[in-house]
Amino acid sequence: MSSTTYKIAAIPGDGIGVDITDAASQVLNTLAQAHGGFSFDFMTFDWSSKKYLERGWYMPEDGMAQLKKHDAIYFGAVGWPDVPDHISLWSLILPIRTSMNQYVNVRPTRILKSVTAPLAQLQKNRKDLDWVIIRENSEGEYAGQGGITHGHGPNAIATELAIFTRVGIERIMRFAFETAKLRPRKKLTMVTKSNAQRHGMVLWDKVFYEVAKEYEGVVEWDKMLVDAMTVRMVNKPESMDTIVATNLHADILSDLAAALAGSIGIAPSSNLDPTRSCPSMFEPIHGSAPDIAGKGIANPVGAFWSAAEMVRWLGKGDLDKTADQLMEAIENVSENGIRTRDMGGESSTKEVTDAVCKEIEAIV
Ligand code: NAI
Ligand code: MG
Repeated sequence: MSSTTYKIAAIPGDGIGVDITDAASQVLNTLAQAHGGFSFDFMTFDWSSKKYLERGWYMPEDGMAQLKKHDAIYFGAVGWPDVPDHISLWSLILPIRTSMNQYVNVRPTRILKSVTAPLAQLQKNRKDLDWVIIRENSEGEYAGQGGITHGHGPNAIATELAIFTRVGIERIMRFAFETAKLRPRKKLTMVTKSNAQRHGMVLWDKVFYEVAKEYEGVVEWDKMLVDAMTVRMVNKPESMDTIVATNLHADILSDLAAALAGSIGIAPSSNLDPTRSCPSMFEPIHGSAPDIAGKGIANPVGAFWSAAEMVRWLGKGDLDKTADQLMEAIENVSENGIRTRDMGGESSTKEVTDAVCKEIEAIV
């Protein structure tokens, strides 16, 4: 069998981002070795808040050009209490998403085997929660337009402009319908707030209806206001499948989805450039968790699930079975009681990682 080498840019970042990126690369190398048909060549970039405090920058000037030489980017987390969060996010993760044309963020959620769901009805009907949240990843509320005038005085003025473009909306809607088409329930729920936000969100709705016409009889769809959506996610999880929402709305809803599925430490995300002209980026949805950083107890499951999605993306259909095997290994380990504290267990990050590697060797 000929072997493919995938070049991966690893950016561990801050806090538990470092622990879980280490864990993910160990698991990915084990998976590649067990499979035999591919390997990973990791290059680690020390772009972090700690380094920013030392040298005054997160990424070097040619940072994007360096990333472009890779097949994919694996990202841990960025953010540390010594640096304002808007500086860290806007110096690293957000510019990567926009510069690399990663206009889709895919966030699957389901209740993994043996994970305890916090709501009794979900714990009983575990299959009810099986969603893919499609987050618009390039504009909307995170467009970065705005400014502050008289920032230090009593007359301070700040604007934060949400930008919605027809091109940006249309491509995310199309991606969402294509995703829904391939899912068992073939349902798409569009989230909006076009009752109160009467310009950008109205265009969001309008373009959605236009794209929806192309999927008549193929994908069933409905529309929700974002506030009511939080209620539906809790009370009627089985009524949804694929969900499309703006940058901010999907960010919030996916944390709720992760909590309903058992822990924020489990949830993965893929920042995709569907055109494949730039490398896509894979990262768990959680942050750097300063409260547990350095303790060796971070849950690596979200990082492993993100790694599985990276394998799926790189394989372009040829490595789906391998990605599924990684998911099976993760679930088996959790079922064997090897879990971190946030999942009700007592194991360390390293114990979970070693157990997943052993399970991969047994399965693949
Ligand atoms: P967070 O996700 O880091 O933590 C929220 C809570 O969940 C904490 O109690 C934490 O201990 C727990 N938690 C998170 N991941 C966990 C894991 N893998 N295992 C066990 N417990 C876990 O969110 P928070 O506290 O709002 O943000 C902390 C920093 O991370 C901030 O600087 C924020 O800006 C940054 N951040 C970065 C993101 C990124 O790089 N993509 C995403 C979200 C936040
Ligand atoms: Mg978030």
